[in-house]
Amino acid sequence: VVIAGATGYIGKAVVAESVKRGYNTIALVRSLDKVFSEEGQRLYGETFKGAKVVQVDVSDADQLTKCMSAIDIPVDTIVSCLASPVGTKKEAYAIDYQATLNCLNAGRDPAVKARHFILLSAFCCRRPLLQLQQAKLKFEGELAAQNDLTWSVIRPTAFFKSVSGQLEGIQNGNPYVLFGDGAVTRCNPIAESELAEYMLNCMTDESKCNKIMNIGGPDKPLTNKMLGDVSGCTIFITIIFILDKINSHNI
Ligand SMILES: NC(=O)c1ccc[n+]([C@@H]2O[C@H](COP(=O)([O-])OP(=O)(O)OC[C@H]3O[C@@H](n4cnc5c(N)ncnc54)[C@H](OP(=O)(O)O)[C@@H]3O)[C@@H](O)[C@H]2O)c1
Repeated sequence: VVIAGATGYIGKAVVAESVKRGYNTIALVRSLDKVFSEEGQRLYGETFKGAKVVQVDVSDADQLTKCMSAIDIPVDTIVSCLASPVGTKKEAYAIDYQATLNCLNAGRDPAVKARHFILLSAFCCRRPLLQLQQAKLKFEGELAAQNDLTWSVIRPTAFFKSVSGQLEGIQNGNPYVLFGDGAVTRCNPIAESELAEYMLNCMTDESKCNKIMNIGGPDKPLTNKMLGDVSGCTIFITIIFILDKINSHNI
């Protein structure tokens, strides 16, 4: 199993799950230093134990194909957890589209001939308003249009880090981000380990082949208002909402 974007939040979980399953796991990284420095070992040491870490520039199609064809065992599955750090058009098309396409094309190369491709996409691609979503959709289209590899597109709802990030934001003095009026938009986040399990299940479950799949956590989706009611802090959230609206008009 070759994992691109292995150092990312979900990539890390996929590497850990792949190693746990006993698969030969190749983690593609853009800098070995990121993993093998002192700080890198603290962040990735435990997760990457049992995986082979390979440095490659995923933006360089030739280098990537050479890298995959040099792997000394056949490549069965390629998992892309690549994601551009910022959602600008340039970055999104460079990473979420082109670098991801480079991974697919490397897998299609006669010297590699991978069997299956798994893509980490996003639930929000159903309503593509942002460049990031459009770049992802463009790649999804190319993945579905080819016949060399079977494929699975996974569109998760929200990650735990996005929800817990709200608390960090508040602690750093930033406003709570409320979608709509807090009473309609619902959120059902999924844990990274469970998402990684689901993604790798696509390798062996035929019912998950050549399909786009939405996935969220096992619990009922909750609105912000419901969350407030559960935790008894509706008044607190309402105050933040009002103060923020007064301050910025930019919620
Ligand atoms: N946040 C949510 O709630 C949510 C919900 C659903 C879907 N999603 C989708 O999930 C994806 C984000 O996943 P994540 O949080 O795991 O992302 P992440 O932690 O930001 O990881 C992104 C990975 O891509 C790599 N990467 C980025 N730019 C690169 C470049 N130029 N060259 C080589 N590698 C590069 C990063 O490498 P480095 O470590 O070297 O930077 C990292 O390994 C996005 O597509 C998002 O739309 C997010």
